[in-house]
Amino acid sequence: MEHILSWIRRRRPGASATATQRNEQDTPEILSGLLEGKTCGAPLCAVFQNSDARSEDYDAFRFVPRPGHADFTAYIKTDGANDFRGGGHYSGRLMAPLVFAGALCAQLLEREGIALGAHIHSIGPIADTPFDPVHTTKEQLLAVQQAPFPAVDAEKGKRMQARILEAAGRHDSVGGVVECCILGLPAGLGDPIFDGLENRIAQAVFGIPAVKGVEFGDGFAAACASGSTNNDAFYYEGNTVRTRTNHNGGILGGHATGMPVLFKAAFKPTPSIGIEQESVDLSTGEPARIRVSGRHDPCVVPRAVPCVEAAAAVALYDLLLGGKR
Ligand SMILES: Cc1cc2nc3c(=O)[nH]c(=O)nc-3n(C[C@H](O)[C@H](O)[C@H](O)COP(=O)(O)O)c2cc1C
Repeated sequence: MEHILSWIRRRRPGASATATQRNEQDTPEILSGLLEGKTCGAPLCAVFQNSDARSEDYDAFRFVPRPGHADFTAYIKTDGANDFRGGGHYSGRLMAPLVFAGALCAQLLEREGIALGAHIHSIGPIADTPFDPVHTTKEQLLAVQQAPFPAVDAEKGKRMQARILEAAGRHDSVGGVVECCILGLPAGLGDPIFDGLENRIAQAVFGIPAVKGVEFGDGFAAACASGSTNNDAFYYEGNTVRTRTNHNGGILGGHATGMPVLFKAAFKPTPSIGIEQESVDLSTGEPARIRVSGRHDPCVVPRAVPCVEAAAAVALYDLLLGGKR
């Protein structure tokens, strides 16, 4: 539980200067499945109660959807029956249970010699030191998980925080990129075509609200490379086949190569901003203007780092168990 709680704390709102000032403690209440710190074989069920909800903040979006948020699509999908309070089913709050499950899966993966960790790759133009695609160690992944702000380079982390606060000062928001590294996956893990390692991880990561892109290895940049620079040459280290470089992010044909698996998730800027924007009133059919007040993250990226780790951990453990979607 200590390990699970440490992951949950990293996602918690109100924990840092750059996060929303909603102050949820996010302490899971275990209803079943755990006795004296050990799983007991019954389904593990944890509940996160809202302790700091202000549902009235969302009344204004019931018929006037926030641009960039899911208010409009949820309204259409449910014929207006959607629970709009707090963003309902589309809230970043839904990630608390995912982080719980992901932290648990990460412990199970560790028993198989698999470690994973993520950091903020960039906020706007400010980029952290990326993970080394060949030599990243478990200790480096743990160090960034334990850092007060999830950047490898603390100085860059400070600049990122300043950039987020500067956007917040203008009642605006910023996006960014999270990079995740997975160590210890056995070569061959995964399947071709629809159930590949890339597919399974991407499906889970796209479940995180505000993710608009996922790339593996050099990703989109590989489209500008040539075969001679993008191919990762093989060599033997003892009996193990390794690659000199890792442009392919540790995946070939949907299977792990045995090298670190690296992927990035692009997060858009938080939709709820305090700048007036154009919208529509779905109850009258008239044009409308909207300025979002309330307590929102000026940037979701710092709190999304453990969500990315959790999504990857759930997908990987499921894959190891042989689970099909
Ligand atoms: C950890 C986390 C916190 C978030 N906090 C907010 C927030 O405070 N305000 C907001 O408008 N969106 C927030 N979002 C993003 C929205 O939930 C998301 O943009 C919305 O559901 C629409 O989904 P889409 O962007 O994936 O299309 C957050 C996302 C995450 C992952």
